[in-house]
Amino acid sequence: MLIRPRDPGFVHPRASEITPRAVYEGRRDLLRLLAGGAAGAALASWAGREALAQGKSAPLKGAKSAVAGAQTMEKLTDYKDATTYNNFYEFGTDKSDPAKNAHTLKTRPWTVEVEGLVKKPGKYDIDELLRLAAQEERIYRLRCVEGWSMVIPWVGYSLSELIRRAEPLGSAKYVEFVTLADPKTMPYVGSRILDWPYTEGLRMDEAMHPLTLLAFGMYGEALPNQNGAPVRLVVPWKYGFKSAKSIVKIRFVEKEPGTAWNKAAANEYGFYSNVNPDVDHPRWSQATERRIGEPGGLFAKRRKTLLFNGYEAQVGQLYAGMDLKKYY
Ligand code: MTE
Repeated sequence: MLIRPRDPGFVHPRASEITPRAVYEGRRDLLRLLAGGAAGAALASWAGREALAQGKSAPLKGAKSAVAGAQTMEKLTDYKDATTYNNFYEFGTDKSDPAKNAHTLKTRPWTVEVEGLVKKPGKYDIDELLRLAAQEERIYRLRCVEGWSMVIPWVGYSLSELIRRAEPLGSAKYVEFVTLADPKTMPYVGSRILDWPYTEGLRMDEAMHPLTLLAFGMYGEALPNQNGAPVRLVVPWKYGFKSAKSIVKIRFVEKEPGTAWNKAAANEYGFYSNVNPDVDHPRWSQATERRIGEPGGLFAKRRKTLLFNGYEAQVGQLYAGMDLKKYY
C-alpha cells in the first residue's frame, strides 16, 4: 500500500479465462469424492460446491448466518481471483506474491493466545478454537484501501463468541490483534516495509459487533495460506487492512493500540479506517472502486463506494456523533 498506492498494474488472468479449466478439473475431483463418499460435508453450501468445482480440498462448511447484513446477493468473486490477488506483505509486495510464496507457512500446530485485561486468559489450539462456536458462512464485501473490492463467502463465527468466553475486565477498551512474524517461513519479515509483527486493533464495541468475523475458511474450505490461514479477522465495514491475517495473539488493552499501517504512515491510514467515500486518501480518491474479476479489468466501470462499505444500517450507530473526517 505504501509501495504501490493504487491499482498496481498487475494484470492477472481474468475469471473468464480461468474458470472453464478449473471447473473441468473440479468436476473430476467432485466425481472422485462422490465415489469415495466424502463429499457430503463440502456439498452443504453453494460456496462449498463452488470450491470443490474449482478443485480445492479441506472442506470447512458453515450454516448460513442469521446475523443481519451477513449475506449479500452480489455475485461472488471468482475463487481464483480471491486467492491469487492478495495483500500479505510477509510474503511479498506484489499481489501475486502471497499465492506463490505462502506455501511455506506452517499452520499446524498453531496456538492463539488470549491475554491482557480479561478474567479468563488462555492458549487455544487452533482446532479447539475452530470448534469453540458454530461455523457460519457469511458473504461479505471486502473493500481494500487501494480502491478494489471483492465479494467472498467466509466461514467462521463472530469474534464476540471468543470475547465473551474470555470475560474482559471493565478496563479493556480495545482489542489488539498480533499476527505471526516468522522470518524462517515468511520471506519479507525482516524487510523494512513494515514494523513486524503486523498488528491491528479494534475498539471493544467494534470487536463485539456481530458482523466482526473470526474466519477460518472461505468458499466452503479452510483458508488458503495466502488468505490468512489458519485464522484471520474479517471486518467488512473497514478497509481490508484491518482484517489481520494469521493471528497468534488477541490482547485486551486499555489504550488504543498501534497498528501496522498507522505506524508506517499515520497521515494515510488511521486507526478507524472505516470505508468512507467522503474521506479521500491523501494520494487518491476513495469515491469509487473496482470489483475484482469484472469484465474490462483495470478499465472496467468503477462502482460507487458506499459509506461503511454498505454496512451503515448495521454499524453506523457505533460512530454516532464522531467526526469521521478526524477519526478516519
Ligand atoms: N494481514 C497480515 N498479517 N499482513 C498483511 O500484509 N494485509 C491486509 C489484510 N491483512 C495484511 C493482512 C490488507 S492490506 C488487505 S487488503 C487484506 O488483508 C487482504 O486480504 P485478502 O488477500 O484475503 O483479500
